[in-house]
Amino acid sequence: MRVQFPQTVFAFSAVTVCVLVYLFYAQNAQLANGVLSVEKNIFNQSAHPGDIKSDVHQLSFAPMMISSKRNTSFDYRAEMKELNDVRVPMDDPRLVQIIRDYYIDPPSLEPYNLENPESLEYSKGQAPFVDSRLNYIEGGFFVEAGALNGERGSNTLFFEKVRKWNGLLVEADPESYAILKSKHRKAFSINACLSIQNYSSVVTFNKGFNFGRIYDNKEAMNWVKRIGKNLPVNTIQVQCFPLYSILLALGQTNVDFFSLDVEGDELHVLQTIPFDKVNIKMMTVEFAHIIGGGRALMSFVKSKGYDSLLKVQRLDGGVNDIIFRRKGLSH
Ligand SMILES: *[C@@H]1O[C@H](CO)[C@@H](O)[C@H](O)[C@H]1NC(C)=O
Ligand SMILES: *[C@@H]1O[C@H](CO)[C@@H](O)[C@H](O)[C@H]1NC(C)=O
Ligand SMILES: *[C@@H]1O[C@H](CO)[C@@H](O)[C@H](O)[C@H]1NC(C)=O
Repeated sequence: MRVQFPQTVFAFSAVTVCVLVYLFYAQNAQLANGVLSVEKNIFNQSAHPGDIKSDVHQLSFAPMMISSKRNTSFDYRAEMKELNDVRVPMDDPRLVQIIRDYYIDPPSLEPYNLENPESLEYSKGQAPFVDSRLNYIEGGFFVEAGALNGERGSNTLFFEKVRKWNGLLVEADPESYAILKSKHRKAFSINACLSIQNYSSVVTFNKGFNFGRIYDNKEAMNWVKRIGKNLPVNTIQVQCFPLYSILLALGQTNVDFFSLDVEGDELHVLQTIPFDKVNIKMMTVEFAHIIGGGRALMSFVKSKGYDSLLKVQRLDGGVNDIIFRRKGLSH
């Protein structure tokens, strides 16, 4: 099913798909204890013909690790300040090394500590759609920013829990990040923001759980004002890194699924990505808070070689994503 604009068709299809997929997962999750089978042609959404069956496990797996060494007597913050000040390029080896050694936290090896441990699917419908479009692959790699508390509305927990993917969770707000860490996700994580420019920097960040965003420019300040009185200004200083620098630190420039929801800076973050050096297969990107909206987002992402597959919206406004897939993708 390849859905195109107009919006009503998009929205209707998205809701239908989400509901169907939800019902399916929910029902099976209850019926089967642990292992169940998904026929890929149920929703006619696969990128490929055929009758591949894919088992859905809630297995534990040994997550990917990187070797990093922290030298406790090394003042990495002072070094980081220097790198910020001179705005080193995204691929500067010192920047990459410092992210690897001092900012990235490894996946947890402890059992999950989730609020909803029985659930398989935590997203608002994006995960099952992306899953089907990626042909149910196992062992992929995801990036999710902002990751919030790592569970609520997570677009990636399904891939980790069920498809045994490795991944990276990016969350700028230290309070949300502390909760995220307590969930014992099997993914790398980093308490930082994704840069909206082509260099690392420390920025002012306005906290606000799922409304948190960088707050150092007029666009963001106007947005916070517009969003209203329920969002007090409560700022902190946060270190931002370009996504590319973090991926280099992980040695992982292949990303099967990138979930991007940073309250209005999505397009700015995407504009930092060297799409010729990073291989991102699919993305779900929130468009509601972008200046220029979905149209501006699609125009940019399409220019980088992607098709927009689906606009996911819910009547209550709880989801406003566009899902993209790289053109000519074959697995
Ligand atoms: C959907 O899948 C069914 C069963 O595999 C197939 O017969 C049908 O032609 C498919 N429809 C589309 C639109 O691909
Ligand atoms: C650790 O950092 C200190 C201070 O920069 C330095 O003198 C020392 O050589 C470093 N140790 C190692 C093992 O790199
Ligand atoms: C930032 O980097 C990206 C990726 O290399 C590039 O496409 C873009 O033009 C750069 N932006 C600026 C302002 O230099």
